[in-house]
Amino acid sequence: MNDQAEMLRRIVDQKKTDRQDGGSGEPAPKQARVITITSGKGGVGKTNVTVNLALALSRMGLRVVILDVDFGLANIDVLFGIVPKYTMLDLIHDEKNIFEVLTDGPDNIKFLSGGSGVEELIRLDRKQLRKFVGNIALLDKLFDVILIDTGAGLSQNVMSFIMAADEVLLVTTPEPTSITDAYALVKMVSRRDKKKRIQILVNKAENVREAEEIATKLSVVSEKFLSLKLLKVGYILYDDTVTKCVKMQKPFSLVNPKCQAARNIHEIAERLFANKAPDGSMGAKGFISKLLSFFGA
Ligand SMILES: Nc1ncnc2c1ncn2[C@@H]1O[C@H](COP(=O)(O)OP(=O)(O)OP(=O)(O)O)[C@@H](O)[C@H]1O
Ligand SMILES: [Mg+2]
Repeated sequence: MNDQAEMLRRIVDQKKTDRQDGGSGEPAPKQARVITITSGKGGVGKTNVTVNLALALSRMGLRVVILDVDFGLANIDVLFGIVPKYTMLDLIHDEKNIFEVLTDGPDNIKFLSGGSGVEELIRLDRKQLRKFVGNIALLDKLFDVILIDTGAGLSQNVMSFIMAADEVLLVTTPEPTSITDAYALVKMVSRRDKKKRIQILVNKAENVREAEEIATKLSVVSEKFLSLKLLKVGYILYDDTVTKCVKMQKPFSLVNPKCQAARNIHEIAERLFANKAPDGSMGAKGFISKLLSFFGA
């Protein structure tokens, strides 16, 4: 086992005795906040939001891990410019544990590439599943926040990641097709759970007014027609730095922490964590159990 794995194991052992008080006098086990980042339409900025939000949260002192579960092209690693040694497949099929398969990103962030591992989950036998669930559940002890970057669209798989997480960050741009697809996604969620916390983020907006208008319009329509309240969590203005940094394979908030997009993402991070986790949040353990039940495992 490598040094990093050994270190993580020690953190877990320490955390076992380091429990939070749930308020009732009974110590409640520590839970990570599980946030799925998604969109109706593709290419709206989910992966950039995930990576840079992770950095902003890390700078706020939170321990952050990213799970990349895009079924098509995993691209968290591309934006970090880091080639991971392991993916979720190694966790599923080999004798690797969660300590070993996490890759180091910048600023203490860790990430796990899903690869084709996500699809494999459906085919696991009971023993493999138990191992997998046990490993993912350990993330509650190691991290404060789990950000899950999904592919776009309304597929069954993406919906499973949305419904299994305690919170959703829904990214849209001002393009009409992106807005209508975001609404379609909210509609699908509302059929299953009208209390789901969906936080709306407008990316690539021309100005603050445009961003505000879109977020307000989406919230009003969702509340009126779907009885689901959206939370407005902020906006990121269109910023050329983002495109330049994508080409350099470096997160924009690392290259230029003062650029417009970095300042916006910082505000979003603060707003997200100004709100407490929703009541009944289940953390990593609840997330993985729900997810596997949706997959019919
Ligand atoms: N605020 C912004 N300003 C300017 N360009 C942006 C901004 N956000 C994202 N982009 C551009 O949009 C492109 C797509 O972003 P990103 O890969 O993060 O989207 P995605 O939603 O993850 O896409 P996919 O659905 O394919 O996973 C980026 O390559 C970048 O050039
Ligand atoms: Mg992406």
